[in-house]
Amino acid sequence: MDTSLRKFYPWFTALGLLVGGLVIAAYYKDQFREWKVWQREYVKAELARAATPAQRAAAARIPVEIRQFVLPELDRVDRCTSCHVAAEDPSYAGLRLPLAYHPNHDRHPFDKFGCTICHQGQGRATTREAAHGHVEHWDRPMLEMKYIQSACGKCHLPTDVPDAPKLAQGHDVFEKAGCIGCHKLHGTGGVIGPELDKVGANRSPEWLLKHFKNPATVTPGSAMPPIKASEADLDALTLYVLSFTGEPLSAYYVSMKTIPGPAAGRRLFEEKGCLGCHSVGGKGGNLGPALDEVAKRHDPAWIVAHFKNPPGMTPGSVMPQFDFTEQEMRALTEFLLSLTDTNVVGFLKVPGAASPIERGKAVYKKYGCAGCHGADAVGGVPNPNSKTAEQVPGLKFVSEGYTKDELQKRILDGQREIPLMDPKRPPAPLYMPPWRGKIAQGELDDLIAYLMSLLPKGEKVDF
Ligand code: HEC
Ligand code: HEC
Ligand code: HEC
Ligand code: HEC
Ligand code: HEC
Ligand code: HEC
Repeated sequence: MDTSLRKFYPWFTALGLLVGGLVIAAYYKDQFREWKVWQREYVKAELARAATPAQRAAAARIPVEIRQFVLPELDRVDRCTSCHVAAEDPSYAGLRLPLAYHPNHDRHPFDKFGCTICHQGQGRATTREAAHGHVEHWDRPMLEMKYIQSACGKCHLPTDVPDAPKLAQGHDVFEKAGCIGCHKLHGTGGVIGPELDKVGANRSPEWLLKHFKNPATVTPGSAMPPIKASEADLDALTLYVLSFTGEPLSAYYVSMKTIPGPAAGRRLFEEKGCLGCHSVGGKGGNLGPALDEVAKRHDPAWIVAHFKNPPGMTPGSVMPQFDFTEQEMRALTEFLLSLTDTNVVGFLKVPGAASPIERGKAVYKKYGCAGCHGADAVGGVPNPNSKTAEQVPGLKFVSEGYTKDELQKRILDGQREIPLMDPKRPPAPLYMPPWRGKIAQGELDDLIAYLMSLLPKGEKVDF
């Protein structure tokens, strides 16, 4: 044997050990990948639950493998269930995460919806940090649970989702604050601020909230007024605006705009003027029977069948056959089933009973006049360097200065040039948009009736 080689033996041994060590380390790293650890925990839990030899054998056969939902229509592959293995198994309800059952999983079958359409995060990733999206290169981290209801607004009408009261609250704040006076959303609204259709995908909740409280701290020189609302309302507004993601969704995903619950039913009941012929709690017409106790007379299937074809169920019926969708019929039925003589009666709007002034108030809200002239038209928002006290005027006193015709012309023409406080400073950022061609004549008449009514009789002011 060559003695010169022999002296390298310790080195060969060391090298051999090193390679062996690396192989073993790689093996362990692979075996202890986060998702494999959770899947083995799951198998262990299944083994512990197994009562018969057959069940034990079945549990032992559960493969440890990447699990995923491939969702071409949503342009996603979601592997979240590689760790959240028991999401579809109700017997895991209330267990610790990630091995817990998902509440209400049956409403949105995961093989059609996946996870990230609601939660965001990075569907393909298989480590927790990366999947939850808390990593450098991923700009849409998982939605904080307190904002999860914003997801519902992508596919359902914000007002009617039974489990999303904050979404409805945010929608309400959005309408009252008159955002639409300055911003376009889904094709309608003003042009002073940017279109909002995708803003929920482009801005973080923190950014939005800070911006609502004081736009100028985020966008220096912003002409957007701070939104005056409670902390809870601003949070709800943020949640609602986060639902404007502008994601293209195929027909199936938006097939349930109206969720058939009592809230949607009630909205339809008011809109369709059912109270013109029926009464509830003694209020309404008497061409048809009172509906307070209709659920005692008929079961839900009968009520739905009757909407489809009234004379088919009650021969000779004069009740009109409305053009309801299946969901709308179910919603109305849910509403009728929820009727008791105490819960809703006081709030139901009787059709035809709204005065022009009330309707005008709704027009004021619809077009976002409040965004510049203030809620209830009493105090306008800041408009730096405008002659009218550096703010857009409230409209409480227009009946003093304008005839109806003049007021109509003023609204239709708008006003681009705003008289300045100081001609040397930059011009006022907000102007009065022309509303010609945007507001129908009937709405305009109601709006004017509302504005003319604002100054209480006898209240006189000097300008
Ligand atoms: C590698 C394993 C793993 C993957 C992959 C994974 N998760 Fe998790 N997830 C966990 C663990 C562990 C927890 C519990 C600890 C925690 O809250 O971070 C958890 C918690 C959560 C929570 C609760 C958070 C909270 O604030 O209460 C949500 C929601 C969630 N995951 C959603 C997802 C979604 C959506 C995906 C896919 C994009 C995903 N997870 C992928 C392991 C994982
Ligand atoms: C339709 C929207 C939607 C889809 C799809 C969805 N989730 Fe959820 N998820 C929610 C909502 C809403 C909650 C809160 C439920 C509750 O507490 O009532 C929730 C709760 C959770 C929680 C518990 C959070 C906690 O703090 O308790 C986890 C974990 C989770 N989801 C993970 C997933 C995973 C994994 C998937 C895919 C397999 C998924 N979700 C699919 C809407 C969704
Ligand atoms: C990507 C679109 C999408 C999102 C996001 C979404 N939904 Fe849905 N939702 C649907 C569709 C579509 C159906 C009907 C599913 C079916 O029957 O196949 C549905 C069904 C429902 C139902 C059952 C309606 C019924 O009576 O049949 C409820 C309740 C519901 N969704 C509430 C929610 C809530 C709460 C959220 C937010 C956490 C949410 N949805 C998020 C699209 C969506
Ligand atoms: C033009 C008048 C008219 C309008 C509008 C109308 N109905 Fe009717 N409805 C009737 C008449 C008449 C009957 C009794 C004959 C029958 O059963 O079809 C009736 C019967 C019913 C019944 C069965 C009551 C019972 O006790 O048998 C229900 C439920 C009902 N209507 C619901 C509605 C709802 C909800 C709306 C609004 C979407 C509506 N109706 C709008 C005239 C009307
Ligand atoms: C983008 C902001 C903005 C919106 C939205 C807006 N206005 Fe104006 N409006 C103004 C400004 C600015 C003036 C001019 C104030 C001045 O002269 O300084 C004005 C003036 C008016 C005036 C004249 C007030 C006076 O005292 O002479 C009326 C009336 C009016 N607006 C009604 C409306 C109505 C009704 C709507 C909703 C359909 C509306 N405005 C929406 C900004 C707005
Ligand atoms: C008087 C007009 C006006 C009103 C009312 C108004 N905004 Fe704005 N908004 C603007 C202007 C101008 C900008 C652009 C400057 C900036 O970013 O602050 C803007 C910017 C924004 C942005 C940031 C868009 C982006 O991606 O840069 C959001 C989000 C927004 N507004 C939401 C709202 C909401 C929600 C409301 C109602 C609660 C509202 N705005 C009311 C004028 C207005």
